[in-house]
Amino acid sequence: MPLLTKPARQRASFHTLRVDDVERLTDDAVAVRFEVPRELSDDYTFEPGQHLTLRATIAGEDVRQSYSICQARSEMERSGTLRVASARVPDGRMSNWLNDIVQPGDAIDVLTPMGSFICPTQPEVARHHVAIAAGSGITPVLSLLTTALEEEPDSRVTLLFGNRRTSSIMFLEELEDLKNAYPTRFQLVHVLSREAPDVELFHGRLDRDRLEAIVAALLPVGTVDEWYLCGPFGMVTGAEELLLERGVARSHVHHEIFHVDDGRAPTPRVEPDASAPPVAVVTVTLDGRTTEVPMSSMEESILAATLRTRPDAPYSCTGGVCGTCRARLVAGEVRMDRNYALEPEDVEAGIILPCQAHPLTETVRLDYDA
Ligand code: FES
Repeated sequence: MPLLTKPARQRASFHTLRVDDVERLTDDAVAVRFEVPRELSDDYTFEPGQHLTLRATIAGEDVRQSYSICQARSEMERSGTLRVASARVPDGRMSNWLNDIVQPGDAIDVLTPMGSFICPTQPEVARHHVAIAAGSGITPVLSLLTTALEEEPDSRVTLLFGNRRTSSIMFLEELEDLKNAYPTRFQLVHVLSREAPDVELFHGRLDRDRLEAIVAALLPVGTVDEWYLCGPFGMVTGAEELLLERGVARSHVHHEIFHVDDGRAPTPRVEPDASAPPVAVVTVTLDGRTTEVPMSSMEESILAATLRTRPDAPYSCTGGVCGTCRARLVAGEVRMDRNYALEPEDVEAGIILPCQAHPLTETVRLDYDA
């Protein structure tokens, strides 16, 4: 039986959690651990690979950012805590705040777990899980692979982990401990771009050419059951293309992208003209309450318009990546600028990303609770 302890796509809500611990991972990355009160433990039960959205007021502004949970499922059961990790991003308000300011005892608003970068474990099946990760892309992968090793006693795991140099590797020690705990079932391959490892094949960036060579030498696709890709946009899309070309079924390639750099302009910010007659009306049902949202421009995103009357509408990245804003389209039509968060079956079921959606019809009805 797959161990899926709760539906991966239930409606999420914020709760204020206390920071239990802040651990420095590298010069530019910290892990932040939150205490989950017993009465909220069901709400924060997660599927490995999912993420938490943190919300804070930083320099007077509401800032939200999603971070993957980086621990085995069992650790939450054991310690009643949840851990995320944040690598410093230049100009990243949340990552700099977490790296420099946040301390144990602080209280932070944390959304309940979300995300579809998951693969339920199957304890009775022997599988080969392979993850290709770079930089902070290790965070959800650590959760997925550690849980697979713990819950699937006959499965094995390979991690291809790209970084600049040894000193910038997040969770280096934990990965070494994992190797010692599972010497026959866990294979770890470091690929370093600014340090020369012993094997030339592992020196350089994890780009399409290098991946092609490593897959050919070490990981014939027929020996792998599940692939997990997490890292920069180019690495993930390059690896995915390669695997699909090699005949791997899409359903066995799981991916997560943190930052999208697809060359397309972000959804423009539109200043609505409050005096103009509405060109569309979006009816939103959220937490059992229905609100009408008039829109004076089809170029504005539905999320931006909704937030004026329903500031409680969920969101995080506003870039079509995290999936926090997801809602069901019940009536009308919309177009989406981009979508890196929804699976094809979500789209087929009528799920949309309001942060990327614009009305195509005069009336649109959205249900966040469905
Ligand atoms: S807010 Fe992240 S996908 Fe819409």
